[in-house]
Amino acid sequence: MPEFDRFAPPHLDDPYPLYARLREGPPFFADAFGVWVVTRRADVKAVLSDPARFSSEFLIRTPMSPAPGVAETLATGHPEVFALLNQDPPEHTRVRALVAAAFSPRRVRALTPRVERLAGELVDAIAADGAADLIRSLALPLPLLVICELIGIPRADAPRVRGWIEQLKVLTSFGASDAEQVAAAHGSVEFERYLAALIAQRRAHGRDDLLTDVLRGDLTDLEIISLLITLIFGGHETTTNLIGNALLAALARPEGLPDDPDDVIERTLRADPPVQGTFRRTVADTELGGAPIPAGAQLYAALGAANHDPDGSAEPHLAFGRGIHYCVGAQLARVEARIALRTLATRLPGLRAADGFRVSYPANLLHRGPIRLAATWPVPSVH
Ligand code: HEM
Repeated sequence: MPEFDRFAPPHLDDPYPLYARLREGPPFFADAFGVWVVTRRADVKAVLSDPARFSSEFLIRTPMSPAPGVAETLATGHPEVFALLNQDPPEHTRVRALVAAAFSPRRVRALTPRVERLAGELVDAIAADGAADLIRSLALPLPLLVICELIGIPRADAPRVRGWIEQLKVLTSFGASDAEQVAAAHGSVEFERYLAALIAQRRAHGRDDLLTDVLRGDLTDLEIISLLITLIFGGHETTTNLIGNALLAALARPEGLPDDPDDVIERTLRADPPVQGTFRRTVADTELGGAPIPAGAQLYAALGAANHDPDGSAEPHLAFGRGIHYCVGAQLARVEARIALRTLATRLPGLRAADGFRVSYPANLLHRGPIRLAATWPVPSVH
């Protein structure tokens, strides 16, 4: 399927027609990426539902083709260990139980008024301007501040955390220059040291936050560092993109933002999911959807393609995955998106996309969301 090997703009603006063509065939090996691509809903479900055949155990933060100096720099920090997203049972089961308890509905409910306050502050800060990029002013900062708050990272440190996450992204994507990679490796080490210090602080003085809950378990500090990075990485840009994609869908309607955004959010999760796919590795030679796949092969389960499979249109969407790795932050992400859209609808009546605004997406296979969203709204004149 050479078409997938050219999976780059302009396909990125609208990958769904390509996915539809790919679903006509069985899983195939994409030479450019070195992965087997799985697009049919039944096959994606089979992959996510069977961790004994399709393993999650591979390192995520390790660069794919590191520049000279990167490995040496990373070696001065904490080694990356498996934590949750990249663990199989029985290790996964133990960590998941601990994290699920810390992500209890009680803690998410308790966070709701805080999310409302943060969203209110962010929207009030732009209200008098009559125009803004809603990604930069709301969709990006809100999930970042929320995940910091949930974990127990001081708000003043949020901008630094954001910078470190950007640097981790450099390490795990294609195309960065050698200098950028080395700078990112230094950032990654700094981030690990920051988290190690936070853990030490919290071990000395517990508080009512997720980190304190996690410390009650039997995880090592290295495992906790990896887990915190997974939570911050997994809970931030994903939710930014859900807010962005849902806003795009809502603003495309003639009536604009709805008062109750739940329906738009759920439709967005199916039609334009923020996480377009996830990876697994075959444990042994296997067969999937009619294709023989060798042991040790990497698979890309294309959630965005599976969600559009007409064969599964009556079934739940796969935007948050399925099975044992089902997104632990799904409830929180929905709460954040609902509050973001509702706050805009109530505080900025008449909000619409700016004249001439054209959406564009980053060149990223995995994460999908608008780079910016220029919007305008009427501002009452002050006398
Ligand atoms: C709209 C926003 C989000 C989307 C679309 C999303 C999507 C996903 C998906 C598809 C998976 C499964 C990955 C796999 O099976 O390999 C997953 C797992 C996970 N997500 Fe999310 N996520 C979102 C928000 C969040 C938030 C807010 C958090 C944390 C605060 C979070 C933390 C995690 C973690 C820790 C896992 C791994 C769970 C495990 O391995 O047991 N996610 N997410």
